[in-house]
Amino acid sequence: MLANAHVSELSRDQDDLFAHVVIDGLSRPQKTLPCRYFYDARGSDLFERITELPEYYPTRTEAGLLARHARQMTDSLSDGGVLVEFGSGSSRKTELLLDELPERAAYIAIDVSPDALVHAHARLARRYPNLDIRPIVGDFSELSHLPSAFTGQPKLGFFPGSTIGNLTPAEASRLLQRFKSLLSGDGRLIIGIDLKKDKPTLERAYNDSAGVTADFNLNLLTRINREIEPVFDIDRFAHVARYNDREGRIEMHLVSRCDQSFAVRGHRFTMRTGETIHTENSYKYSIAQFQALARCSGWRPVRVWTDANSLFSVHELA
Ligand code: TRP
Repeated sequence: MLANAHVSELSRDQDDLFAHVVIDGLSRPQKTLPCRYFYDARGSDLFERITELPEYYPTRTEAGLLARHARQMTDSLSDGGVLVEFGSGSSRKTELLLDELPERAAYIAIDVSPDALVHAHARLARRYPNLDIRPIVGDFSELSHLPSAFTGQPKLGFFPGSTIGNLTPAEASRLLQRFKSLLSGDGRLIIGIDLKKDKPTLERAYNDSAGVTADFNLNLLTRINREIEPVFDIDRFAHVARYNDREGRIEMHLVSRCDQSFAVRGHRFTMRTGETIHTENSYKYSIAQFQALARCSGWRPVRVWTDANSLFSVHELA
């Protein structure tokens, strides 16, 4: 058992790390805050709500593709093997694939949130009593190997939600290479990629009329106020999301509504009216662009599924 002293030391280290990355990000010419801190309990809740918004087309479009083509997407596991999901969260979309898996299959769910894994595990264990479910708590980008029990078995990676779009193309390529070695040479990958499209549709998806995405973005400041120290007057910031044509990405920012200054652990920062803190990117690809990125990263594009309006794509890589 971990002594209490160790536990509190551990959480103090985490707090220090958070304060450190916040100070580091705010010290740059273009201020930034790291997006992985979006997902505290309230952030995860708001994110679930984003996925149900009328303007936020990716989740339901991707779910439609998974529902329609799940049999084909999982055919590399038709004789058994293991489905490996990177950042499984609630594992809702995964059910569409699990429905098609044979009796003796296994499911490895990797997520940073123990809470999400516990809930998903309970639900899936009821629904799929014969499925071998292995929850793994951790950051999928740091995982070096899968449980040895699965050595030699066919592996299918699953990375939906266009989550890879939240990385720069260079980072995305490194992650794809990492997946290739985790899933071993003959593993396959099913990956969701949001497509380039007209700017109004893209921008509306990240500026919903109910303001949920705004709350999600601003929640980062609330989290800093709670977990580090009271730093921000939230009313002095507004959410903006705009499509950057040149980079091919939606950028989310928190824009300062006035000239202001604030301090984090004694480090003082100033912001002018209109100056922003950059909080997240969501890169958009054409099908050909994503296939080129996959090829550069050691994968061979096999099949691609898209909806009638070419909003979203799901790729099979081998
Ligand atoms: N990766 C998805 C996207 O970029 C989901 C997502 C991540 C998201 N962070 C977000 C959606 C912030 C809205 C706001 O669309």
